Amino acid sequence: MIAPDGSIRAIFGKPLGTRVDAHGWIKTRRDSKGIHFIQLNDGSSFQDLQVVIEAGAVPEAALAQATTGACVRVSGELIASPGAGQSVELKASDLRVFGPADPATYPLQKKGHTMEFLREIAHLRVRSNTFGAVFRVRNALSFAIHKFFQERGFVYVNTPLITTSDAEGAGAMFRVTTLDPGKPANDADDFFGRPAYLAVSGQLEAEIFALAFTNVYTFGPTFRAENSNTPRHLAEFWMIEPEMAFCDLDGNRRLAEEFLKYIIAYVLDHCRPDLEFFNKRIDNTVLATLEHVAASAFEHVTYTEAVALLEKSGRNWEFPVHWGSDLQSEHERYLTEEVFRKPVIVTDYPAEIKAFYMRLNEDGKTVRAMDVLAPRIGEIIGGSQREERYDMLLEKIRAKGLPEEHYNWYLDLRSYGSAPHSGFGLGLERMMMYLTGMKNIRDVIPFPRTPGSADF
Ligand code: 4AD
Ligand code: MG
Repeated sequence: MIAPDGSIRAIFGKPLGTRVDAHGWIKTRRDSKGIHFIQLNDGSSFQDLQVVIEAGAVPEAALAQATTGACVRVSGELIASPGAGQSVELKASDLRVFGPADPATYPLQKKGHTMEFLREIAHLRVRSNTFGAVFRVRNALSFAIHKFFQERGFVYVNTPLITTSDAEGAGAMFRVTTLDPGKPANDADDFFGRPAYLAVSGQLEAEIFALAFTNVYTFGPTFRAENSNTPRHLAEFWMIEPEMAFCDLDGNRRLAEEFLKYIIAYVLDHCRPDLEFFNKRIDNTVLATLEHVAASAFEHVTYTEAVALLEKSGRNWEFPVHWGSDLQSEHERYLTEEVFRKPVIVTDYPAEIKAFYMRLNEDGKTVRAMDVLAPRIGEIIGGSQREERYDMLLEKIRAKGLPEEHYNWYLDLRSYGSAPHSGFGLGLERMMMYLTGMKNIRDVIPFPRTPGSADF
């Protein structure tokens, strides 16, 4: 089998004169008189390995099949490259084709393709420059997230994907059932004896763990059945939810800022060639923005201050703003892109527009909510200090018309050893959009699920 250090990335680190076997898929092939050039990539690095094949150096039959898309092994010697764009190249002495790709039908030819077209070939788009870079960044980002929390002693917890309670109290959930949709039936006859759903968040169960392990985090898939056909919404997305006992909204805000800066710095350090590609081909502000954000303090305003700023902006909003209305994407983007030009944390929203579990402020009208807004993306994090007082929480559950009996255990946490606690949720794909400059959330997740679409 192929040794892990046989990757093209590892080959780039070897001295000139080394004999190597390189494996990968052919990006492009160029032929001139008596010499052939192949760009080979195995996903381990943005940079392709240039292979040079002189006439007669490899078997003719293999050379004939070594076209764009084919999977090959090239054996040869690393030599200094006279060409621009790379310092070493592989001078081939043998070539083997594992899997040819018919040039007449292989869809990923050199010419640029639209993102929409590439989405239809999600089984092949991962071999392109853009998606190679996207998924290497996603890998590094996921690792950085675990590293950040593990270095701080947070315990990783797996919360259920199938649930009978609505964590956000907002009702946009997918039903999970074994009942035959064609036949009338009682909920009691269903698999779990009552209606069950795919989880919209792991927060409520993370709170259980925070009230035993103090600092915990989740990192898993979440599901929302809202019919939002936008470039920022998925029906299946990944969320990271830290939850901290003995932490108030200020502590929550500080952790969110430290966390975002840490993961940005990690990706800047570990994915340079990929980020440089995004900067050149997707959005030429990506690198400058990330470097700026990693180094500067986030802005903080209350919801009330944010609304005042929006009201005096003189803009003609599609959704008019007044105290009590929810902030829409156009408002969030105005605040981050035009007023502050960096991430902004908005806190203390009106209770009516936020989830039932958020702690009520002394004013009796606002709750200890926080949203982190980022330029281009809008909301990237949502979180709050939680209502830890039994009576207040019960009142809120009733006021929001939620089924009390579903929240017994959640209320129990407030009866037995309750503690002030806080947490937040980061949408992994929103963060990916921020890091890469990719404009559609469907292009930063391997297999997007959106209304009307669940291919692959
Ligand atoms: O603001 P949300 O709904 O907050 C929660 O679910 C809380 N339980 C989090 C917590 O306090 N533990 O979602 C959190 C984040 C959003 O800020 C956004 O980044 C992302 O999840 N998100 C989505 N990403 C893609 N597609 C969707 N449909 C999303 N809905 C939310
Ligand atoms: Mg939110």
